[in-house]
Amino acid sequence: MRIRELLPEGLFAGKVVFITGGGSGINLGIARNFASLGASIGICGRTLDRLESAREELEELGAAVSVSVADVRDFDALATAFARSREELGPMDCLVCGAAGNFVAPAEALSPNGFKAVVDIDLLGSFNSARAAFEQLGETHGSIVFVSAGQAYTPYFAQAHVGAAKAGVDNLMQNLALEWGRYGIRSNSVVPGPIDDTEGMRRLAPGKLKEQIPPLVPLRRLGTVDDVGMAAVFLASPLASYVTGCRLVVDGGQNLPGSGLFGQLVQDAMSGKLPRSE
Ligand code: COA
Repeated sequence: MRIRELLPEGLFAGKVVFITGGGSGINLGIARNFASLGASIGICGRTLDRLESAREELEELGAAVSVSVADVRDFDALATAFARSREELGPMDCLVCGAAGNFVAPAEALSPNGFKAVVDIDLLGSFNSARAAFEQLGETHGSIVFVSAGQAYTPYFAQAHVGAAKAGVDNLMQNLALEWGRYGIRSNSVVPGPIDDTEGMRRLAPGKLKEQIPPLVPLRRLGTVDDVGMAAVFLASPLASYVTGCRLVVDGGQNLPGSGLFGQLVQDAMSGKLPRSE
């Protein structure tokens, strides 16, 4: 892992990091980066097979791992998962709110329940996680890293549900920074851009659409899960001990020109499938 060349291997030795949705994608990448620096890792998600295969990967990096099946929409299930992680690994030093849902749907084709499903997973799920972790984080003077998205501050075509949910996540992040600073708890967001080899990219830019993205990114490449993992490690580490309420954007500059060109690509890709406007 590249992070081992950049930071001391024991930076997170004796620390516990819990990552919701940690069984795959960007969240598993975040988990791997923490594990590489000596952290013990708790993960939860909805699919046991996926979580068990993530456990194997993380154990190979030397981490002690606690696994629980829990949907972030279910507060009691999360509280049980966090209690188990505490019993197996010790109190949590960092919570990463990574569990998220996404699909591409123009607003006029989105059902109220579809909108609600994403808001429930992303926003309510983030609150549930932070609330259920509060006591452990207060004890360790730990921190929270929310996984947000550029949709939180730039409107994207066919992403009304995600934009609303992630804007809420960033607002919650700042509110908790304001309220929980007095308990020694820091709260920040990491904002991934177009990250290669993830569920999000497969959903948002399927097939050849992906190849058209790098020229639209100021740094001219897709991001990697390690780009996001390293930023999350920074926010949780002593390097950021006076950083709270911050949105750390890891997108190669992708959001700077806005989402217009992206929107055009999506509309072109969906042409023929979009409802007509007349
Ligand atoms: N287009 C429009 N509506 C959709 C949809 C799509 N592609 N996929 C799901 N929905 C709607 C469903 O139709 C349903 O609404 P309805 O009851 O009015 O029909 C609603 O969303 C809930 O769907 P359901 O499948 O019951 O939700 P779920 O809780 O099982 O799954 C999702 C949540 C929909 C977000 C699902 O995509 C998911 O589990 N994603 C997790 C992984 C993920 O998205 N990763 C990417 C992160 S960037």
